[in-house]
Amino acid sequence: MSTIYKLLTGLSLGAVLALSATSAQAAGGHGCGTFTNAAGVEEHLACSEAPIDFSNKGSLQRGATMFMNYCAGCHSAKYVRHSRLAKDLEIPPELVEKYLLVTADGIGDQIDAGIDPDIQASWFGAAPPDLSLETRLRGDDWVYTYLLSFYEDPSRPWGANNLVLHNVAMPHVLLNLQNELSEKEYRSRVGDLVNYMAWMAEPMRQERQRYGFYVLLFLLVLLIPVYLLNKEFWKDVK
Ligand code: HEC
Repeated sequence: MSTIYKLLTGLSLGAVLALSATSAQAAGGHGCGTFTNAAGVEEHLACSEAPIDFSNKGSLQRGATMFMNYCAGCHSAKYVRHSRLAKDLEIPPELVEKYLLVTADGIGDQIDAGIDPDIQASWFGAAPPDLSLETRLRGDDWVYTYLLSFYEDPSRPWGANNLVLHNVAMPHVLLNLQNELSEKEYRSRVGDLVNYMAWMAEPMRQERQRYGFYVLLFLLVLLIPVYLLNKEFWKDVK
């Protein structure tokens, strides 16, 4: 009896650990901060859920184009090479060379804004950080909510502020796009961008999650012969 008990305890402990790891990961471990509402009361800002789907190549391609056009001028993503974009996101290398080499000379180069961060800091008040691993640092939902939370604020140097990152030094670089598109389309484009950033931070993520599921399934199935063997071994001893 005690063996079954031990086995079950081990199993439930494993399940609890696996579940808590998944939920911590899903939440990104971060909230989206607080803001003061019109009545002057401080409220908790709930993160919006980023639409992450690496199997949606169209979304990743649109996101990559947005990143290169709107972000790479200031932010580097030094762990990513343009050739990897072409290969993984199934963008023909000629098109990457023609349209997406914004700050680089060759398709083998990394995404590098090529500006001294100290000079940038003197322009903006803070240096734009490298965004290669940003979604892992902050969580997908944080980045998505941040990008959707710019608002007009004439007291700021660039006329914009942000609910998630108060008094942010980054201008609202997507303002024109936001004005051109409907609210729904705009959210969907920002979703593509964050989907791309999540891919950039961990290209193998969805494979890892798939393998993880099969590994757990394998361990569960393995439990049956292990349990039966255990019973067989101890049969004569007891
Ligand atoms: C004009 C330059 C500029 C452009 C273009 C720009 N950013 Fe920024 N960004 C900044 C600066 C400066 C900061 C630092 C803000 C601060 O710390 O107050 C920043 C900060 C950020 C942060 C927060 C980093 C952190 O963890 O604190 C994210 C996320 C971000 N940018 C994403 C983007 C994305 C995505 C784009 C493209 C749509 C973009 N940025 C385009 C200048 C820029």
